[in-house]
Parts: sequence; structure tokens; C-alpha cells
Amino acid sequence: MSTDFSIRACRRDDLDAVCDIEKACYGDDALDRIALTQYLDLFAPGFLVAEHAEEVAGFVIAGATFADAPRLGWILDVAVRPSHQGRGIAPAMCRRAMDELERCEIRTVRATVAPQNERSLRTFARLGFHVVEAVEDYFGPNEKRLVVEWTSVRE
Ligand SMILES: CC(C)(COP(=O)(O)OP(=O)(O)OC[C@H]1O[C@@H](n2cnc3c(N)ncnc32)[C@H](O)[C@@H]1OP(=O)(O)O)[C@@H](O)C(=O)NCCC(=O)NCCS
Repeated sequence: MSTDFSIRACRRDDLDAVCDIEKACYGDDALDRIALTQYLDLFAPGFLVAEHAEEVAGFVIAGATFADAPRLGWILDVAVRPSHQGRGIAPAMCRRAMDELERCEIRTVRATVAPQNERSLRTFARLGFHVVEAVEDYFGPNEKRLVVEWTSVRE
């Protein structure tokens, strides 16, 4: 696993690069600049980027629900520039985001993954997530998702 990247909080001036990565990874389903800006406003410490040679190579967006109990963390989005995939960047960013959630006393973190997204499923499995639910039409018709969950061992 390469370690020639660093992980830091996303800044507003990273959002052009984040938008590019969204489009490269999700095409027509990419989140737009407005949604990404609002995610940054809402989740700042859980919105992280990986930087390689002064270029944003990937990002993760994590946040938490408001409900008192159980308070759930979510990894809402993780994406890596195609040219930088396969270097362990996504698991490293997710681990940092999970650390941030743990610091906020969140002990359960979820994410959704398309069943055919084997790379993402492997990434989450290696981080200790397991599938807890399969939901047809999660994001609308024919948008099935697997819900994956991780539980912290911290008290
Ligand atoms: C899923 C994703 C975030 C993983 O990021 P990453 O930094 O490449 O993660 P890893 O380095 O841990 O690689 C994950 C797996 O994909 C494989 N992989 C990565 N790039 C690859 C490539 N170009 N060709 C073949 N396999 C590749 C890795 O070998 C690894 O498989 P392994 O577990 O068998 O070793 C990244 O592929 C991505 O951005 N995909 C598009 C967006 C997306 O699907 N996000 C997740 C939504 S839930």
C-alpha cells in the first residue's frame, strides 16, 4: 500500500477538485457543487480529502444523525480519482473519518454500497464493515443498495 498521500480537512477551495472526482466516478449521478458545499457546511470535520503532489486525489464525506439514540454515523460518499485508485487511499480516508466519528462518541457507522460495486464492498469489508440489510429501490426504482455497518470496540 502506497503512503505518498496525506489526509486533511476539506477546504472550500478544494470543492472544484471534489466535483471533478465526483463526475469522474459517478457520471450523471454525481452530486453537484451545491450539495457538496452544503455537506462541507454541515459535516466539516468529517469531510476529508487525500492530497498527492498538491493535487486532491480523493475525498470522503462522513456525518452523524441528530437522533439521541442510537446515534448513527454515516459514510455518505467516498471517491478516489481513477488514476489514484488501488493505492489504499479510500480505506485510509474512511479510517480517519471513522476516528472523527468515534471522537464524537459515535460507535456505529453505516454506508450504502451498490451490490455490483465489488471494489467498494472489499474496501468496506477490510475496514470491518459487514452487510446488515439489502434494500430494493433504496435510492429510487432499480437503485438497490446494501447497507454495511461497522461497530466500534471503544466503550
Ligand atoms: C471504491 C473506491 C472508493 C476504492 O478506493 P481505492 O482507494 O481504490 O481503494 P483500495 O485501494 O482499497 O482498492 C479497493 C479495491 O479495488 C481494487 N482496484 C482499485 N483500482 C483498481 C483498478 N484500476 N483495477 C482493478 N482493481 C482496482 C483494489 O485492488 C482493491 O481490491 P483488493 O481488495 O482485491 O485489493 C474507488 O474505487 C472509487 O472511487 N470508486 C468510484 C466511486 C465509488 O464507487 N465509491 C464508493 C461508493 S459506496
